[in-house]
Amino acid sequence: MALPSTLKDKLRLPLIAAPLFIISTPELVIAQCKAGIVGSFPALNARPADQLEVWLERITSELAEYDRQHPDQPSAPFAVNQIVHKSNDRLDHDMEVCARFKVPIVISSLGARKEINDAVHAWGGIVLHDVIDNRFAKKAIEKGADGLIAVAAGAGGHAGAQSPFALLQEIRQWFDGPLALSGAISSGRAILTAQVMGADLAYMGSAFIATQEANAASGHKQMIVDSAANDVVYTNLITGVHGNYLKPSMARAGLDPDNLPAGDASQMNWAAGKPKAWKDIWGCGHGIGVLDAIQPAGDFIEGLAQQYREACLSTQQLIAARA
Ligand SMILES: Cc1cc2nc3c(=O)[nH]c(=O)nc-3n(C[C@H](O)[C@H](O)[C@H](O)COP(=O)(O)O)c2cc1C
Repeated sequence: MALPSTLKDKLRLPLIAAPLFIISTPELVIAQCKAGIVGSFPALNARPADQLEVWLERITSELAEYDRQHPDQPSAPFAVNQIVHKSNDRLDHDMEVCARFKVPIVISSLGARKEINDAVHAWGGIVLHDVIDNRFAKKAIEKGADGLIAVAAGAGGHAGAQSPFALLQEIRQWFDGPLALSGAISSGRAILTAQVMGADLAYMGSAFIATQEANAASGHKQMIVDSAANDVVYTNLITGVHGNYLKPSMARAGLDPDNLPAGDASQMNWAAGKPKAWKDIWGCGHGIGVLDAIQPAGDFIEGLAQQYREACLSTQQLIAARA
């Protein structure tokens, strides 16, 4: 349970802001890193492909300037998410751009690949691979990933189905490297809980949709604030892969979220002419019930830090009472 030097003592909170399709852009990443947590974005959000260089130029230069002005509290490192599945025809280009900028952390999803891990290591970066079960976790480490992100039940987007207890304890039986936990984490107390359960870091996605910097429709942000776990449904109808989505966005698109047909795993997108996955059907995890406002990412992270401190104090009292 030791963090690599890329992360050790570099974070104000043990937290990675998860990459969000369409939603994470440089503005959000910069705000997250300035506030002291790992900010991230999917490389595919930078469109067309030549925008990736523009995004990385902006992120690295704005964070370097911030660090010059705040030497006592520098920004946290950032991460780029690469979909390493063979169907991603931008991968070679995007990896070459990341190499030029020596991106400190790559978050890989959808299939672990040794050559990707080797390439990141060659420029001095680390790879965290996201997994939904212990079998995929073992494969990822065999292929050379430095750490794992356990995507448990209740996570937004393409979530796993396993309890975080089951997933973490199975992985921790054999893996003592960097491990992040995701799924319904939206508060400072939940971040501490992830650590107590054996994770080094928490990984939080949906909560950042309700921030001012998020590139999400205002209706999506407000629906996150207005909804709770009961308003989220787990289905493979939208992309062919199981994920969590907001029921009211489905109802608005003419679907009955409580009576959904099964999806077709061979079809990775929705039929033409119907609302496009992610754009009209809004992804979201179970953890949103505690969110009550759309606010700047920095203010939200400040609130998390305060909750985290309070949770640490009450846990210390609990331990003292047991001693
Ligand atoms: C709207 C949305 C888009 C997402 N897009 C991506 C993505 O492009 N790549 C990825 O690896 N994960 C993606 N995820 C999953 C998140 O990175 C993360 O695993 C998840 O949000 C964590 O659970 P939480 O939302 O309960 O915090 C997405 C999640 C949501 C809600």
